[in-house]
Amino acid sequence: MERRLEGKVAMITGTASGMGRAAAIRFAAEGALVEGCDLDVEGNAETAALVAASGGVMRATAPIDLAEEASCQLWVDAVVARHGRIDVLYNNASACVFALIDQMTREQWDFTIRNELTLVFVATKAAWPHLCASQGLILNTASVAGHGGGPGGIGHSATKAAVLAMTHVMAAEGAPHGVRALSISPGVVQTPGSADQLAQPGAMDGLLMASLVKRVAQPEEIAAVAAFLASSEASFMTGSDVLVDGGLINH
Ligand SMILES: NC(=O)c1ccc[n+]([C@@H]2O[C@H](COP(=O)([O-])OP(=O)(O)OC[C@H]3O[C@@H](n4cnc5c(N)ncnc54)[C@H](O)[C@@H]3O)[C@@H](O)[C@H]2O)c1
Repeated sequence: MERRLEGKVAMITGTASGMGRAAAIRFAAEGALVEGCDLDVEGNAETAALVAASGGVMRATAPIDLAEEASCQLWVDAVVARHGRIDVLYNNASACVFALIDQMTREQWDFTIRNELTLVFVATKAAWPHLCASQGLILNTASVAGHGGGPGGIGHSATKAAVLAMTHVMAAEGAPHGVRALSISPGVVQTPGSADQLAQPGAMDGLLMASLVKRVAQPEEIAAVAAFLASSEASFMTGSDVLVDGGLINH
């Protein structure tokens, strides 16, 4: 394994599960000092153990509710106190409710906005001065859902389209400080977060048939792209979204 992230301080959100866990393992394997947070204490500790078992460095902080400013700020302050800087903020964590428009409650809508959108703003704002100081990178997780919309995605597609737009703003405001901002738009990825949807009979058939590769992705396939984007090899990229969707959208 190349060590393209040697010594970089990488804050990754949502490291207890799915793509956040895979990113923690991959980033640490490439030499990053991983700072991972999550609401889920047990899952996050498991990830830290997996990283340690493979010889990497990860500090697991949990429970942190990233949409709570005070709690998020404490995490950022602790990371800066430990390392003196932040090189990468990977806004991966999210939670949402899928429901048809006439069935989605106001509470479900608010939950989705809070846990897919507000948490990206809160974490980015808290880390911003440190990213400016280190000419760091913000890597946001958007989704193919942000490029379009299907039944049940009224909240999810709205938040992910907003994450794409926020990435453009972060890139524009970050440029004078040497801060870059990118997003990844995964297609369908096999994670605990997508398990309910994937388990519904026939629910994903149309989506998968529409893709060119006819399969779901593994979280490691997204983490591999994230590691490249976080490395100096991607130094000329900012404001872009990278589709990692098995050819779902652009054909
Ligand atoms: N799985 C897919 O098919 C897919 C496709 C496209 C995009 N995405 C996006 O990729 C990212 C990761 O998805 P995943 O499938 O690995 O999800 P997951 O549900 O497996 O993991 C998400 C993690 O985020 C944490 N989290 C949620 N809200 C939080 C909060 N307020 N504070 C702290 N931690 C919080 C959860 O506890 C969980 O551990 C998400 O942004 C998701 O929207 C997923």
